Amino acid sequence: MTDARTEGNWAGRFPQTPLTGLLDVNRRHHLAESTSRDLTIGEVLDLVGVTNEFRDIPLGYGASAGLPELRQVIAKGIGVPDDWVITTNGLALGLFLVAMELCRAGDRAVVARPSFPPTRDTLKGSGAELVEVPLEFSQGYRINLSRVTAVLSPNTTLVSIASPQNPNGIRVTHDEIRELLAAMTALAPDAWLFVDETYREAVYGNDPVPPSAAGLGPRVLTGASISKAHGSPGLRVGWLTVPDRDLRERLISAKINTIVSCSVIGEALAARLLGKVEALLAPRHELLRRALDILARWHDGERHRIDWVRPHAGALCCLRLKPEVFDAAAVERFWALLPENDVQLAPGPWFGEEPRVFRLGFGYLPLERLEEALTALSKAIDEVKG
Ligand SMILES: Cc1ncc(COP(=O)(O)O)c(C=O)c1O
Repeated sequence: MTDARTEGNWAGRFPQTPLTGLLDVNRRHHLAESTSRDLTIGEVLDLVGVTNEFRDIPLGYGASAGLPELRQVIAKGIGVPDDWVITTNGLALGLFLVAMELCRAGDRAVVARPSFPPTRDTLKGSGAELVEVPLEFSQGYRINLSRVTAVLSPNTTLVSIASPQNPNGIRVTHDEIRELLAAMTALAPDAWLFVDETYREAVYGNDPVPPSAAGLGPRVLTGASISKAHGSPGLRVGWLTVPDRDLRERLISAKINTIVSCSVIGEALAARLLGKVEALLAPRHELLRRALDILARWHDGERHRIDWVRPHAGALCCLRLKPEVFDAAAVERFWALLPENDVQLAPGPWFGEEPRVFRLGFGYLPLERLEEALTALSKAIDEVKG
């Protein structure tokens, strides 16, 4: 087991997170974000219409499982009963609650890598044994079911995947999930499957939003939030779907012990925003389509030195400095040159990938700034060769 407390001089229960580098650094050519354009408070208020009814909401604690109207609109969007939904303070809290509740010393948690750092790090902090199953850039990050199956064991309590995945935007199909569930029933009957669907609704243009994995089996948990497709990470509203009543009660208990309840302002705004989800998402999907086109055109001119896994959805994807063009020293120079060029990318090692891989977020900057940022990135790559 890798114990965070014994790694270097770090005394934290959780590994030292790279995400401070995302929250606290904001270079002009910001290509590190996984979100699409942030809404402003004014845009949210205009969209939902602030009525007197809204102004009269008392600032008490929220309900333990979350605001009923919010749970209802989330459940309707997913197609599950309302009482399956537990709201969380962003899905980040959902990841934490699932890790703390399902994973203890002596248990095994299995995670597909690369992954969102807190997905992995909450599990490291839980005291369980973490087994990461590598997915390969060269295989387009398709899930490798035989590799996952090979590490399932009777003490496995959680298998955690994301669809689309962060950092690469690649989906796992429902057939693959069904196959995985069958293997879990045989080899890890006490395990729950967690499917992180944070990017599910961040599709491009008229692409259909695929159905949620919630309901694919009695041991399937899902989670998502309004942080990515909906442009509202600052509201900190997310949710879990949990079909099992006993586990729901345990997770609500964990939630109360962590935050008591979510913010009533966040929940009230989120309920109203999700009530207008089509009006909200249609123009954002179109923006993502156009941004992806810009990126694809840029990559056409960069094919000789950059590999790309084209994403299925999400404002994020993985690119790689070609091994035959850049040796390890050149990769190091590349990272050193980015700040000088005011370019910000998310390094592969944040997600458990190689340093020559980077996550590029193409939905955060306005389109004209995206073109400018990609030009700056090309300039930094030119400079690597001197
Ligand atoms: C895969 C994945 N899950 C969960 C989260 C947590 O996001 P939030 O807490 O804003 O919902 C993120 C954020 O980047 C993510 O990429």
